[in-house]
Amino acid sequence: MKKVTLSTLQQLKKSGEPITVLTAYDATFAKLQERAGVEVILIGDSLGNVIQGHQTTVPVTIEDMCYHIANVARGCNVPLLIGDYSYMSYATPEQAYFNATKLMQAGANMVKLEGGAWLSETIQGLTERGIPVCAHLGLTPQSVDALGGFKVQGKEQASADKLLADALAVEQAGAKLLVLECVPAALAKSISEQLSIPTIGIGAGVNCDGQVLVMHDMLGLNEQFSPKFVKNFLTDSDGDIRGAFEAFVKQVKAREFPTEQHSF
Ligand code: KIV
Ligand code: NA
Repeated sequence: MKKVTLSTLQQLKKSGEPITVLTAYDATFAKLQERAGVEVILIGDSLGNVIQGHQTTVPVTIEDMCYHIANVARGCNVPLLIGDYSYMSYATPEQAYFNATKLMQAGANMVKLEGGAWLSETIQGLTERGIPVCAHLGLTPQSVDALGGFKVQGKEQASADKLLADALAVEQAGAKLLVLECVPAALAKSISEQLSIPTIGIGAGVNCDGQVLVMHDMLGLNEQFSPKFVKNFLTDSDGDIRGAFEAFVKQVKAREFPTEQHSF
């Protein structure tokens, strides 16, 4: 298999084939995901929750991100690797450039930040400097305190309009990929149709250009955490982790996941 690049993702969007994305934080799981055919691995700051045991992603540092990106990068060759910016590590364009160096030198092929129009200058600056950017809209966990908890976003018309405007703004600024988290399926579909860059949904319905889940969630490892948009793929594969990754790829490619039951 050839290395997955931005051109691969653009091609998949064009052909209407869903893009498969999972999070990973270490070499062993990255290798298993690669073998299962996962196209993109996100080293998410969700590691604050699933690796470090925090309640939010706020305590995660850029050094934490780089440590896990480097571990994942040693475990696989094919998937495109997205490295999350940690909390407040891209508050100004200069900080974003400084920390992009760390994420890319750790092994990321693309960096991800949470936010919309206010990040236009940052996204444009990174893009001009040759750094591919993935934006993240909807439920943006680094803003959990401002959002008043982990809630579906874009339910009211005004917030739906703002979400669409933000999506158009980040594309205009040069973002090459957009994660939509916990937004109504109809809104995610409309945004996906209006953008030329691929959208990757989590709790955003079946009509995004790709799907992402946190690895620990799709393996059903945390009994206290089973939001509506998560499916346990480990039970689908009789407890075999390789099988769970393969089932995710197969079901996303066939648009069998997510269903209405996992959508808002
Ligand atoms: O950190 C993460 O795992 C993420 C995904 C939930 C999209 O940002
Ligand atoms: Na994240």
